[in-house]
Amino acid sequence: MSGFLGTNALLEADINLVIQLFMGIALLVGMMLARRRCYRAHGICQGSVMMLNLVMIALIMFPSFREGVIPELPGRLRNPYYSVSTVHAALGITAQLLGLYIVLRAGTNLLPRALCFQNYKLWMRTELVLWWVVIVFGVATYYLWY
Ligand code: HEM
Repeated sequence: MSGFLGTNALLEADINLVIQLFMGIALLVGMMLARRRCYRAHGICQGSVMMLNLVMIALIMFPSFREGVIPELPGRLRNPYYSVSTVHAALGITAQLLGLYIVLRAGTNLLPRALCFQNYKLWMRTELVLWWVVIVFGVATYYLWY
């Protein structure tokens, strides 16, 4: 089924684009909650985005990458259609894993002491910047593909 944004994209790509932008904004709102010391609301906001994004990767982005990009690698990496989406996927996996690690560290007692960072600000700011870099590469992928 075709999408609703007036491009050549399928419905799921348009839904993914809108939800990704919404989640990127939600992370910025979550950062403001932390600045106001509303740590519980901050944790719920950022944790929900991490979980929702896992669903978006599993249902939309990974299947699309497996079918549309992986069969052409590494031969067609000079083509931006494949290189931009591959950089996006590599950074996206990194951002998702880092996010899950931060949620585990900050929101649970499951990690052994040796794996617990203390500098929350540094880790969370790094994650927010990386996440937005991934969104930019995602939007570039959408632009190149559709
Ligand atoms: C923090 C994690 C991630 C963010 C914020 C993110 C964000 C985005 C955005 C904004 C788009 C454009 C909308 C679209 O074309 O559907 C997109 C598309 C895409 N992403 Fe991601 N992404 C992430 C992780 C991943 C991962 C881990 C993979 C691959 C394993 C991946 C593969 C793709 C592919 C193939 C598309 C094009 C989908 C299509 O249009 O059919 N992304 N992503």
